[in-house]
Amino acid sequence: MKFTVAIDGPAAAGKGTVARAVAAEFGFAHLDTGLLYRAVGRRVLDGVPPETAASTLRHDDVLRGDLRTPEVSRAASEVAALPGVRQALVEYQREFAGRDGGAVLDGRDIGTVICPSAEAKLFVTASEVARAHRRWLELTAAGHDATEARVLEDIRNRDARDAGRRDAPMIAASDAVILDTSDLDVDEMSAFALAEVRTRLAGKQRA
Ligand code: C5P
Repeated sequence: MKFTVAIDGPAAAGKGTVARAVAAEFGFAHLDTGLLYRAVGRRVLDGVPPETAASTLRHDDVLRGDLRTPEVSRAASEVAALPGVRQALVEYQREFAGRDGGAVLDGRDIGTVICPSAEAKLFVTASEVARAHRRWLELTAAGHDATEARVLEDIRNRDARDAGRRDAPMIAASDAVILDTSDLDVDEMSAFALAEVRTRLAGKQRA
């Protein structure tokens, strides 16, 4: 059976956490689409032109261990504003979404552009301060030298670029359920998402 879960939202809102919980609970394949843009951004920092970096992206590129740095986050959101880069990544994402056995994709434009007919759509968000605090904890735990104020500024800049671009801007699909995780822990946000997907899955099985 085909069943697609689209999870969108801004940086550090909990999309990845929620997507992994859904994938584990229902046995769906999971694609973190941000990693595709990060891998393209990384290659651009290495000197490859953006459209070439996207159209020749290989599996190994998304497995690199250095894709979660602030420098790569910035580069990813810069290349993500280029229509040629986005276009080069569409087909791979749609094929992934259409696989048998169910798929969950998280990103910025999954429910609006990549899979507008996804069976379940969530827009996961949280206050800027909550998101900056979480990202700062992650970065410092990974050994990066970061201040919370700098992380907040990076998040604001990235949100503005992602929401303000002409092509596939970050926006909740009109039929997405909004999940605000500002005051939720991992178990609470996961439980909300699982309940939503369970309801949609039951609806599809009845139909
Ligand atoms: O989700 P993550 O923070 O890893 O994404 C990195 C960047 O990739 C985002 O800031 C955004 O610019 C871009 N992106 C996108 N569309 C997606 C996923 C990520 O434009 N579906």
